[in-house]
Amino acid sequence: MNIANQVLSQLRALVRNQPASPPLQPTCYWQTDIHSHLLPGVDDGVTSLEDALTCLKQLSAWGIQRVITTPHVSQDWHPNTQASLLAGQTMLRDVVAEHQIPITIDVAAEYLLDDLFLDLLRADQLLSFGQQKYVLFETGWAAAPRFVNEIIFHLLAQGYQPLLAHPERYTYYHTDLKPLAELRKAGCLFQLNWGSMTGRYGRRVQAQAHRLLTNKWVDFMGSDMHRTADLDLFGKLITSADYQLLQQQPLRNQELTTT
Ligand SMILES: [Fe+2]
Repeated sequence: MNIANQVLSQLRALVRNQPASPPLQPTCYWQTDIHSHLLPGVDDGVTSLEDALTCLKQLSAWGIQRVITTPHVSQDWHPNTQASLLAGQTMLRDVVAEHQIPITIDVAAEYLLDDLFLDLLRADQLLSFGQQKYVLFETGWAAAPRFVNEIIFHLLAQGYQPLLAHPERYTYYHTDLKPLAELRKAGCLFQLNWGSMTGRYGRRVQAQAHRLLTNKWVDFMGSDMHRTADLDLFGKLITSADYQLLQQQPLRNQELTTT
């Protein structure tokens, strides 16, 4: 055996004697997820407790320590009440504790800006989260919302911090960033969906996500997880082209891990 073969043989022996390394588990550098639909049966999110637990276990494995899940609240499709959502919070907390998943559960909401929302705002019955009293809201898909700046004004006046869910997904903002710039100027913050950076919602949404990231307009990341099929999102997110840009955002997710 020549010297080269001897070295190779010794290297092989060394490698054989090494303990097998565990496969690398991708981890999330923020520990709180603020947008998901994991209360079973209350909206278009998970339909069973089993699926909710599957999602929560995987989120925990990625390093998420707190999930603020946000069922839809809208007058026509999901008229969930504060009382029913808080009852769901108690139930989900109990089940998570029973299954020993190391994750803190809170329930807030993703509000559609409709008449029900205005009633809840007037009655001061919105479900918010964090010390800043963040209120997550979405706008309709068909047309740009009217009076959104006025609603932001009223939210701020009542001590809430308005937070627009997935601004990159609204097609009516794709051709002109000015309305989004005005929302930010009015005091509204933005939450980007994990899936938008992976192309889950198409190239135009991915391109808009890129523009928001370039402008450093991303205040929060959110999984917007609806079902177990969304569990492939995270792997795609951390290998997405804009992941480095994401790491440059001043994300506020972290401030919620302990408050
Ligand atoms: Fe959502």
